[in-house]
Amino acid sequence: MSVDLQKNTTIDWDSLYEAACTARDQSYSPYSRFKVGAALLTAEGDVVVGCNVENRSYGLTICAERTALVQMVAGGQREVVAVAVVTETSPPATPCGMCRESLTEFAGDIPVLTANLRGERKIYRLRELHPSPFEWAGPPG
Ligand code: THU
Repeated sequence: MSVDLQKNTTIDWDSLYEAACTARDQSYSPYSRFKVGAALLTAEGDVVVGCNVENRSYGLTICAERTALVQMVAGGQREVVAVAVVTETSPPATPCGMCRESLTEFAGDIPVLTANLRGERKIYRLRELHPSPFEWAGPPG
């Protein structure tokens, strides 16, 4: 399935889903045993993936979506045009609040595909999931 989006970017959802599934296989989640994979489509047309990486100090865990965002920025890109998140839940899990806010830093009202391994899929808009992101004018002066 392909959908035309802003900036004439074509989203190949099947490829994005497969990339998120492959990333999910790398999940380091011995504490929750809940594997998550994420794949970002960047404005430049690249796919950047992430998985959740847990820590024995539980609070240090980083989610799949934010792992992907960090990887994207470290690679020199700063704009996401679509994202796929793969879990094993039914219905497919949506990104947590922290990840919604983090996606908002680098994305407009992008489509967010949530999917699981048995083929269930639902596409949300980021603004639908996170309608009132934090707004800050920046430091004075
Ligand atoms: N997790 C994600 O990777 N993304 C989310 O949006 C929510 C939760 C991870 C964190 C933790 O490793 C596991 O799922 C269980 O909470």
